[in-house]
Amino acid sequence: MLEGKHILIGISGGIAAYKIPELIRLLVKAGADVRVTTTANALQFVTETTLRTLSGHTVYSDVFASVNAHATEHISLPSWADLMLVAPATANVLGKMANGIADDALTTTFAAMRKPVIIAPAMNDNMYNSPATQQCMRQLGTWDNVTMLDCAEGPLACGTSGKGRMQEPEYLLEQIYAAFTPKTLSGKKIVITAGPTIEKLDPVRYLSNFSTGKMGRAIAQECTRRGAQVTLIMGNMSAREMCDKAVAAFADADCAILAAAVADFRPESEAGCKIKKHDDSNQLTLQLVENPDIAATLGKIKKPAQQLIGFALETDHEIENARHKMGKKNLDMIVLNSLQDPGAGFGYDTNKVTLLFNDGTQKNYPLLSKEAVAGIILDNINLS
Ligand code: CTP
Repeated sequence: MLEGKHILIGISGGIAAYKIPELIRLLVKAGADVRVTTTANALQFVTETTLRTLSGHTVYSDVFASVNAHATEHISLPSWADLMLVAPATANVLGKMANGIADDALTTTFAAMRKPVIIAPAMNDNMYNSPATQQCMRQLGTWDNVTMLDCAEGPLACGTSGKGRMQEPEYLLEQIYAAFTPKTLSGKKIVITAGPTIEKLDPVRYLSNFSTGKMGRAIAQECTRRGAQVTLIMGNMSAREMCDKAVAAFADADCAILAAAVADFRPESEAGCKIKKHDDSNQLTLQLVENPDIAATLGKIKKPAQQLIGFALETDHEIENARHKMGKKNLDMIVLNSLQDPGAGFGYDTNKVTLLFNDGTQKNYPLLSKEAVAGIILDNINLS
């Protein structure tokens, strides 16, 4: 999605600047064309060589430098860029940006930028809490083209701990993806189950499966990018716990997507102490009882406007079994993946799916990344 996108990164002089080369690498890997502008102080924290090497372009740090490609880089860069990210944005730079002060490469470039800008502040917690900083952040947050991020909480470079950390590069990358995604699910509430369930045997053991939750996480991420309000119920909890959470969240949701690998059975009882080996027997018999079927439970309480999407992981008679499940659980669509397809299933970053609809139709897709599959699933849900 970032293929060919022009991303302009503005770095100011905070210690968090050391994290920006990693973000540039992630953006370039995703296919974006990245250019960098910095304040003079930023180059105390990260070198021009690093930024130039990773972006593949001259860094714009000095308005009057003779290496600049144009005489007016602060005008040509904003017109080149599809999006600008200012990270880290120090208290000083926030103050300048909010008040129209343009006295260096970064701030003159920002002043001329009329396309989307994401600002990621970073500073000491006392500076963050100062009325001036708070006022500037509030003000910038009201601008149509600006997404004003908040600082994260945690250990700070000055040795204290508090609010003032820059958001991590992965989070900033996600914000950039979101900025390029049309908000087609704005106002929609979507519940997603994902990952494995675990059923306790005794205080140190449980029964589970090989699900990693990658598919469900990719769907949740794509829903968020499209503007939906997402409740992600991620595994490593019992089927009963997951069922209770799903039922509660489904009450006012528009859609539930059930990607979790739910254990169909659990031990009849959880042993209070560790189950021991016995000298007189080399066998252990476990008595299992059936778990609630979350999909079927939601299928029973589903209202006409709600959409219910399930998954089916099959090894044989795939279409037939999946259609049967869709009917039995009152699903609107079922995403079939076969364990027989190489590269599809637990743990892989790719998946090969067939979408089956309750009107009898079906759509087949080739092996794709789980991100791409997530997009296809969402494109096929009717949430009008
Ligand atoms: N599912 C569920 N609760 C369960 C079992 C399954 O919500 N107790 C959901 C899964 O999340 C998936 C769909 O039902 O969306 C189908 O799951 P699958 O394991 O393929 O089917 P089962 O109904 O468990 O049938 P079987 O194991 O016999 O193939």
